[in-house]
Amino acid sequence: MNSRAGLQLGMAWGPTSRAPSAPDLPFVFVNFAMTSDGKIAPANRRFESFSSRRDQLLLYELRTYADAVMSGARTLDVNRVKLGNGGGRFTRLRLQRGLDKFPVRIVVSGRGTIDPGAEIFKHRFSPIILLASQEAPERRLKRLRSQVDDIIIFGEHGIDFLQALRWLRAKWGVKSLLCEGGGAVNAALFEARLVQRLYLTICPCVFGGRDAPTLADGRGVASLAEAARMTLHRMRRMGDELFLIYRASIRASRA
Ligand SMILES: NC(=O)c1ccc[n+]([C@@H]2O[C@H](COP(=O)([O-])OP(=O)(O)OC[C@H]3O[C@@H](n4cnc5c(N)ncnc54)[C@H](OP(=O)(O)O)[C@@H]3O)[C@@H](O)[C@H]2O)c1
Repeated sequence: MNSRAGLQLGMAWGPTSRAPSAPDLPFVFVNFAMTSDGKIAPANRRFESFSSRRDQLLLYELRTYADAVMSGARTLDVNRVKLGNGGGRFTRLRLQRGLDKFPVRIVVSGRGTIDPGAEIFKHRFSPIILLASQEAPERRLKRLRSQVDDIIIFGEHGIDFLQALRWLRAKWGVKSLLCEGGGAVNAALFEARLVQRLYLTICPCVFGGRDAPTLADGRGVASLAEAARMTLHRMRRMGDELFLIYRASIRASRA
């Protein structure tokens, strides 16, 4: 295979080093397309493909670095996504990197509200794991049990992602985890200081709408001192889009 095949920005853009922040955790990276006014979808949250074809292929390229890909219930409900490997050259890239042919798929649904008829459950090419919290009633979990390979509950109010990620590494061998949103899941990961790289594509359009989701919603912080801090690691302009990689500073100690 041509060594540049599958590289959307003319160079390898994925994380070259995938060292986790702690030996018992996966390396965590997040990939998002964002409008110029900081939105990741319109206020009605319906799926809108607003980035270039290059950015859409970059999503598959980044998956070639990940043992597992994770998304939240609302992203999976509204989008017809299966979290696959992209096929063809992307499958070959995965294999070259020593990963399994398909990523393990992680569904985040603390209260178990994900639609059991969601597209992801119709494709059985790799394990699907449901992360839930104690807020998920048994009747919902029962409907989901036949759709997934494993259900794990961590956390009383909302998912305890630190414990969940440790478990993913120990039980499923997930050493690199790519999170593809949405804003609620990302916010929880940033809040827990688990994100190590942010891959961000800034697109030339404005959605507006104070209720439109952003790449990290949730409760947010009260002051700059509480913000997740990052440094700009790489930047590339292609056409009217900016492709950015931020490195996050990770909290030194964890309980
Ligand atoms: N532009 C992009 O690159 C991009 C990428 C992805 C998604 N999106 C867009 O983003 C929107 C969806 O984002 P969203 O923020 O509304 O939803 P989301 O993060 O996809 O999913 C939210 C759901 O995930 C579960 N969840 C999230 N954080 C949790 C936590 N800390 N503990 C327990 N459960 C948690 C909850 O499920 P339960 O209700 O079951 O508790 C929650 O309702 C869609 O419009 C989608 O198209 C855009």
